[in-house]
Amino acid sequence: MPEAKKTRLLVVDDAKDTLVFLCGLLETNGYSCVPAASAAEARDLLQQQAFELALCDVNMPGESGLSLVRHILAKHPDTATIMVTGMDDPRIANFALEQGAYGYVIKPFEPNEILINVANALRRRKLEYEGRANREKLEQAVLARTTELRETIVRLEQTEGALRQAQEEAIQSLVMAEEFREKGTPWHIQRMSRYCALVAARLGWANERCELIRLASTMHDIGKIGTPDEILFKSGVLDPEESRLMQQHTEIGRRILSGSAELLTVASTIAWTHHERFDGSGYPRGLVGEAIPLEGRIAAIADAFDGITTRRVYKQALPPEQAVEVIRVGRARHFDPQLLDLFLDSMDQVLAIRRKYPDADRTPGS
Ligand SMILES: [Fe+2]
Ligand SMILES: [Fe+2]
Repeated sequence: MPEAKKTRLLVVDDAKDTLVFLCGLLETNGYSCVPAASAAEARDLLQQQAFELALCDVNMPGESGLSLVRHILAKHPDTATIMVTGMDDPRIANFALEQGAYGYVIKPFEPNEILINVANALRRRKLEYEGRANREKLEQAVLARTTELRETIVRLEQTEGALRQAQEEAIQSLVMAEEFREKGTPWHIQRMSRYCALVAARLGWANERCELIRLASTMHDIGKIGTPDEILFKSGVLDPEESRLMQQHTEIGRRILSGSAELLTVASTIAWTHHERFDGSGYPRGLVGEAIPLEGRIAAIADAFDGITTRRVYKQALPPEQAVEVIRVGRARHFDPQLLDLFLDSMDQVLAIRRKYPDADRTPGS
C-alpha cells in the first residue's frame, strides 16, 4: 500500500509488549500505527492528528479504555473504535458496543482476530461515513430547494400584493369618479363596504371572502354614472318616470361590472341587488327573501344604515341609536332578519368603523 494512502490507527495499551506486538502486526499488514501508553496520551494524539481507527485496551491505570471510547465518540466521531479487553466478560463487551465501539477483541487474541476486527470496523466506518455524507448532501439539497421554494412564494406574494393594490387603486379611481360627480359623502363607501365585510366575518366567511365583499361593495352605486344630472341632483321628490330612471342605476351598475373575474361577479351582483327588499317590494326585479343574493342582502343593510346616519343635502343624519330603531322596523320587510340581527349584534364594531371614517374628515373639495 503506498505510504500516502496508509490507514492511520491509534493503538492504546498500558502493556508495552502488547503495544509493540499490536503495532508490529498492524504495520506488517499495511497500516500506519501510532502507539499510546495511556488514555491521556491518546487524547493528546487525537487532538493533534486524525485517525481512522483507535484500538483501546479496557483496563489501564488512570482513565479506562471505556471512558476513552466515550471521549472519542463525542469529540472525534470520524474515528472508529475497537476495545481490547483482558477479561472475558460479555457485560464489558456489551457495554462497549452500546457506547458505540465498533467491535471488541478478548485477550489473549489470535493475530487474525485483530486483523478481521480492524478490517470490519474500517469497512463499517467507511459505509457510515459515506451514508452520513449522502445524508448531508441530501439535507443540503432539501434545504436549497426549500429556500428556493420559500423565495418563490415570497416573490409570488409580493406580486399578488402589488396586483391587489393596483386593482384596489383602479377600483378607488372608478368609485371616486362617481362620488365626485354625485358630490356625495366620500366616506360613505369606506364605511358601508366595511360594514359589509363585518357582517361577512360574523357569518364566518374566510378572510379572503370578507375582503372580496368589502372591495366589491365599494362599487354598489357605480351605475349612477349613467343617471342624468337633473335626476341625480333633484332636491324634490322624483316623479314616477324619474324614479324609474334613478332605479336604473342598479341595472347600469350590473352591466358596467359584468365580467368573469370573481371580484367583478360579486360587485355586479351587489350593484344589481342592493335595492331589493326581503319582502319583494324592492327593485329592480322585486326578488323575495333568499332569492336575493346573500351579498345583495348584506349590502342593503350596510348601505341603509350608513345612509340613515349620514347627512345629505336633502336630509339630516340620524344618530346611530335612532338609526338602529329605524332599520329594526325594516326587519323581515326590507332586510333579511338574520343578517340584520348579526349587524345589530355587531354595533360596537359598526360604531368603531364610524369613528374611524367620520364625515368630518372629508377630503378637501369633496
Ligand atoms: Fe344604490
Ligand atoms: Fe350607497
